[in-house]
Amino acid sequence: MNVTCVVDNTVQRRSQFWGEHGVAFLIETEAGRVLFDTGQSGTVLLHNLEVLGVDPATLDALAISHAHYDHTGGLAALLEQVRPGLPLYASPDLFRERFSQREEQLQSIGLSLTREDLDARLALKLSAGSQEILPGIWTTGEIRSRLEPEGRSACHWMREGEALVPDSYRDDMALVLEMDGRLMVLCGCCHAGLLNTLAHVQRTFECPIVTIAGGLHLTGATGDHLKRVGEVLVEMESVQRMHPNHCTGEVAFVALTLALGPAMVNPCPVGTVIGF
Ligand SMILES: [Fe+2]
Ligand SMILES: [Fe+2]
Repeated sequence: MNVTCVVDNTVQRRSQFWGEHGVAFLIETEAGRVLFDTGQSGTVLLHNLEVLGVDPATLDALAISHAHYDHTGGLAALLEQVRPGLPLYASPDLFRERFSQREEQLQSIGLSLTREDLDARLALKLSAGSQEILPGIWTTGEIRSRLEPEGRSACHWMREGEALVPDSYRDDMALVLEMDGRLMVLCGCCHAGLLNTLAHVQRTFECPIVTIAGGLHLTGATGDHLKRVGEVLVEMESVQRMHPNHCTGEVAFVALTLALGPAMVNPCPVGTVIGF
């Protein structure tokens, strides 16, 4: 099983890939190809897939981590090129309106497509529970228990009836990949919180987590919380490799490296292939 970073905020110097604020991963197994998230523009996603030599028509499934534009913005362009009836796995809360507020300005940052738009091209598989996408590839389902701090931004709001309320991030989920009894947790933005997500995976799946990759949303985390994240990861003992990117933040990357050692914590720009 290979996991390739297709969209991220960073690209390596002199790379043919393009970068943007957002994330997408391609998971390839003997059973097929799954695209997890789509970046924000579509332009970057399609360019990078072309560089990788991956025709969108060969995808076997899509999965979406949550509604935010930097994970769903590439969907519109992608829909033109995927095979009709392609399954899309996501939370039932995907279509709720979501906003960012900065200096009184309210900006829509949720999914730009309607449910009808997606229904016309895809087979929607929406569930708050864990779903198997292909053999060895599952969604976490909704991260319900959140005893640890979430990957929250104070400027994020969502529509609740007529009112705007702080975003509950109930749509946020990660993927769980299983290979030979070992797990990789692949995060989109991890708004539900990294420690909450890992605890949920440990409760739901019986195998040890050896790899953690993707956006961990530790930007803005306190020093105390970063210290706790490092301690929990060390205590888990099973984690052998991390590939944080997107919204993890440079301070968190350094904190994780100090806690776990440089051999375990690796950058994950576009084009990174995580063998598993
Ligand atoms: Fe997000
Ligand atoms: Fe994000």
